[in-house]
Formats: sequence, structure tokens, C-alpha cells
Amino acid sequence: MAIQGKKILICVSGGIAAYKINYLIRDFVKKGAEVQVLMTPSAENFVSKLTLSTLSKNPVFSDFYSENGTWNNHVELALWADVILMAPCTANTLGKMVHGICNNLVIATYMSAKCPVFIAPAMDLDMYQHPSTKQNLELAEDFGHFIIPAETGELASGLVGQGRMAEPETISKTIEEFFSSDKNSKNLAGKTVLITAGPTYEAIDPVRFIGNHSSGKMGFSIAEEAANRGAKVILISGPSAQQTNHPNIEIHRVTSAREMFDQVFNFYENADIAIASAAVADYAPKEIAKEKIKKSEDELTIELIKNPDILKTMGERKTKQFLVGFALETQNEEENAKGKLEKKNLDMIVLNSLRDEGAGFKNDTNKIKIFTKTELKEFPLKTKNAVAQDILNFVEEQILK
Ligand code: PMT
Repeated sequence: MAIQGKKILICVSGGIAAYKINYLIRDFVKKGAEVQVLMTPSAENFVSKLTLSTLSKNPVFSDFYSENGTWNNHVELALWADVILMAPCTANTLGKMVHGICNNLVIATYMSAKCPVFIAPAMDLDMYQHPSTKQNLELAEDFGHFIIPAETGELASGLVGQGRMAEPETISKTIEEFFSSDKNSKNLAGKTVLITAGPTYEAIDPVRFIGNHSSGKMGFSIAEEAANRGAKVILISGPSAQQTNHPNIEIHRVTSAREMFDQVFNFYENADIAIASAAVADYAPKEIAKEKIKKSEDELTIELIKNPDILKTMGERKTKQFLVGFALETQNEEENAKGKLEKKNLDMIVLNSLRDEGAGFKNDTNKIKIFTKTELKEFPLKTKNAVAQDILNFVEEQILK
């Protein structure tokens, strides 16, 4: 079990979801992890130290000094941990974390840590939607922390919406997947992984284009994850603000579907795994006007012609490659995804639907289902980094079968 022997430091802050931490600790301990717990002073109103220390089999601290006068060394605790889990993480604790307001043991420990940090926010729906929370979560992600998004459901206030802390099983699975994500075991060493990402822009004239809302986040997350697992990654990216400096990633920036097609087939033959996460325009203007089209008539007709289907062509030219497609759907999701799996000769397809909140374009999260010809696996809403892990775990399972 990936979690066995790992040192997990749980920092509990003052929210009603604190009671769920009992189940989480029991689960971690059962799986062989070493668990220590810290609390903010207000968390003590929600769950008792005695319960947490009994379950974790370790003393639980909420202050810099214990009653017997000993100093609770936050630096030592921070360096002890393989991961820190902030759960539940209230708006208050989140704000202090990202702005360095170090007025309790939890924040002092967090700020002394060098290990990965997971954040499971929990708050009422208006607080979760507040621009300051959104900005603080973005800052936390920029720091490299992993967000385990809050779930939608009934909240302590009686309101219904997003804000509930993720269920203990989801948190446990996320941490487990992190440890099994093969940053250490390099399961993809020796493999070449070809990935398409981002949108394509199809020029109309020198200033206009037909494009879409893809940010490239999903594709870049997959590329980073594959590179972490030891693969040589060829990333063909449409226009996107995403960046990577990973030494295992060779990035080729393109603009149009035609250019993406040409770059993909410069590398496809030698790829072991190909993953098409790009949102490629299906049509492009038949002709690109040489000069900016002037406003004149009330109506303007632009004739479009079909772009090459890059993924379908990969399916037709498949030799040794394990071929993964994406399906971005708005209706008849499963039927359409299965149709694409078949028609494009894929080994696996990742379905995401724009009907799922937090899924698809631009978001930092996604919600996917994976299909092969014989299997279906459904995943909850997760960060795109965690989704990338799920996708590559699934690919590894398939190719190592
Ligand atoms: O970039 P983000 O903002 O993070 O958003 C991620 C995403 C929503 C773009 C991504 O998760 C996703 O769903 N990518 C596929 C989008 C898409 O074009 O889906 P589709 O169902 O239209 O196409 C099916 C498959 O064929 C895709 O793998 C696509 O890359 C491929 N295709 C499509 C048309 C074409 N001409 N060539 C292709 O290769």
C-alpha cells in the first residue's frame, strides 16, 4: 500500500467538518501511515484532542507550549512530515497560509515545511465563492500545493452548494494516489509519450481567428506527470499561456490544426503512448484574407473547410502506440465518447462534460470518466494535476497488463 510507513501531519482548523478527521486518521493508521495532528485553537471547539490523539496514537498540539511547559517544536514537526494535510481548511486558515500570518502553531508549522501540502477547504457556499477564497486557493496552487476541492451538498448553515469538505475517502485516495504516482518508481522510464494540448487558432485574416476556450492546463498537467514518472515527453501545444521547464519535456508550440498535425506526425512513429488532450478546431477558413477584412456589408460569410482529424489519423497509423483520446461533450456524453473510441481506433478515451461544474475548459479542476472497450471508471472532481495522475495510473495498468 502506497501510504504504508508514510508520515502524515494533519492540521485541523475550526470548522464543523473537523469531526470527519476522526475517520480519516483511522483510515491512514489502518493503512500503516504514521499520523500526527495539530489543531488551531478554534478547532478545539469542534473535536477533542483526546479523540484525535487516541486515534493517531500521538499527542496532539494546538499551542506553542504544552501545559507542562515543553515547547512544541514546529520546525521539527514540519520536517518530520512526508506530507501535510490541512483539513478542514477554513477561509481563515487558508488566508493566513497564503499571506504568512503566522499567529498559531499550525501556520508556524506549515511555514516551516518543505514537504508537499494538501488543502481540503471547508466553508459555507458564499465564503467558498468569495473572490478572496478563490484568489487564495489560486495562490496556494501557485505555491505548488494540492487542492482537494470542496464538494457540493448540504452545508452546516442549511444552505446547499459547494463548500463541504471532501469526504474522508476522497482525501485518503488523493493522498494515496500522490504516493503511488511513481515520482519515485519512474514507471514510464524508457517510454516516449506524445501529448497534444491547448486550443488551435485558425486564422481568418491577419488579426482574427477561430479558436476555443482551452487553456492547455489539462495537457500540461499530463505532460508534467508523465515526465515525473520518467517518460520522455513530446508536448505539442497550441497557443496557451502554460509553461514548463521540466527537463524531460520537449515542447513544440504550434498555432493551427494543420501545424499540430504536421508536428504530431514528426514524432508519432517513435511514441509508445500518445495522448490527445488538445481541443482541435474541426474547421478552418478555406482562405485566409491577406489584409484585415473591412466592415462593409451587414453579413459576412466565411467558407470553412474540414481540418484533418489528428487523432483519427493516429488511430489509422497505429503500430505499437497506446492511443488515448479525449471527448469533450455537452450531451449524450457516454454514447459519443464510446463512438469516438471505436471510430478513431483508440485504446482508451477520457470523457469530460461541460455539464459538470468545475470540469472542462480553463478550470483548475476536471471530472472525468475513462472508457476502454471493456471497462469504465468514473472519478470525482479533482485538480487537473490529480486527474493527470488518474489518467496515467490507468494507462500504466493497461500497458502493464
Ligand atoms: O485545456 P484546458 O482548459 O485544461 O481544457 C481541457 C480540455 C477540456 C480541452 C480537455 O480536457 C479535452 O476535453 N480535450 C479534448 C477536446 C476536444 O476537442 O474534444 P473532441 O471531443 O472534440 O475531440 C475528440 C478527440 O479528437 C480529442 O482527443 C481531440 O484532441 C481529437 N481531435 C479532434 C479534432 C481534430 N481535428 N483532431 C483531433 O485530434
